[in-house]
Amino acid sequence: MGDNTTLTKPVESAPGTGEPLLEVEGLTKHFPIMGGFPVKRKVGAVQAVDGLDLTVHAGESFGLVGESGCGKSTTGRLLTRLLEPTAGRISYAGRDITHAKRKQLAPVRSEIQMIFQDPYSSLNPRMTVGSIIGGPMEVNGIKPPGGRERRIRELLETVGLNPEHYNRFPHEFSGGQRQRIGVARALALEPKLIVADEPVSALDVSIQAQVVNLLQEVQRELGIAFVFIAHDLAIVRHFSQRLAVMYLGKIVEVGDRESLYTRPRHPYTHALLSAVPEAVLSEDDEAGERERIRLAGDVPSPINPPSGCRFRTRCWKAQDKCATEEPPLVRISGSTEGHLTACHFPEEGSTTAREEDIVLDTALS
Ligand SMILES: Nc1ncnc2c1ncn2[C@@H]1O[C@H](COP(=O)(O)OP(=O)(O)OP(=O)(O)O)[C@@H](O)[C@H]1O
Ligand code: SF4
Ligand SMILES: [Mg+2]
Repeated sequence: MGDNTTLTKPVESAPGTGEPLLEVEGLTKHFPIMGGFPVKRKVGAVQAVDGLDLTVHAGESFGLVGESGCGKSTTGRLLTRLLEPTAGRISYAGRDITHAKRKQLAPVRSEIQMIFQDPYSSLNPRMTVGSIIGGPMEVNGIKPPGGRERRIRELLETVGLNPEHYNRFPHEFSGGQRQRIGVARALALEPKLIVADEPVSALDVSIQAQVVNLLQEVQRELGIAFVFIAHDLAIVRHFSQRLAVMYLGKIVEVGDRESLYTRPRHPYTHALLSAVPEAVLSEDDEAGERERIRLAGDVPSPINPPSGCRFRTRCWKAQDKCATEEPPLVRISGSTEGHLTACHFPEEGSTTAREEDIVLDTALS
């Protein structure tokens, strides 16, 4: 463990071009639903995550986007092995960690860290900032040169906090500052991958950008790979080089930022993008010409998801085939390499305007 973790450490690999760091195949998490009396048994399952394939490269920022309940946090917890997968495979730096036990996981645990959504509940109110940030070092028996305190002060500086506030308690800090403490804690073990689960959505809009900027700086300058989970496409647009869009436990589209934002092929991505305020679209987008798609109805229950394509109950392009055949996540003609879409009747790949808003009603489909 070195003591040079200020933001001057050289980037080891250019973002997005590194070796595969985390590889996931068929990743699945079904939460059993127990019922019955007097003997409880499994009566169903919440299909929270259902067969994800994805790769995160060393040093890249990967965004994971989707509506509430689509399985983003469950995915994050599976990737960091806080949850045990029901099926599938996770490999980290070439090692299969799918079912690795505590002891085998220890070295990997220090390399993969998580930042949580709520900076209020994720920091122990009875611990000082110093002991919160130093906790991971203590657990892992790490004694940095110059001592833990010096290292903690450095980390506080790295995340833009006053190192003199070492002995303060979380309640003495604002929400944004608390999330900076969470970032410092995640950095303490010099991780190679950070999974950030909606790290700014609990924060005041006015300070969200500051925290996103800090994460971006950390990602670029320390060469750390990020999985940034969000339901807001506007936030990940600036952060992520590649993005995956999730719907009801599945990835429906994945690709590099440019391709996904300018040529979305999946109707759901198209709908999500049309909800991004024009002010944050790139200058090439012709403001006002972007169609507005309002998705009506709720996401169906993951206990009993629709057959075939899970989006079909809200999709304006759905046909019979969509109910009987699940669309595979593949590269479709006209898409750039690495841009994969799971749809039988994909969009043309242009975001040209339509005259009026498209309003979907689940009752009609
Ligand atoms: N421990 C659990 N037991 C049973 N069901 C669960 C559990 N954790 C999550 N779920 C269910 O799994 C589905 C996916 O939840 P998850 O929290 O991963 O979604 P999310 O995309 O993170 O949503 P949000 O945007 O609201 O954070 C939801 O239907 C949720 O109710
Ligand atoms: S497969 Fe069918 S229902 Fe699913 S997104 Fe494509 S057109 Fe819509
Ligand atoms: Mg969540």
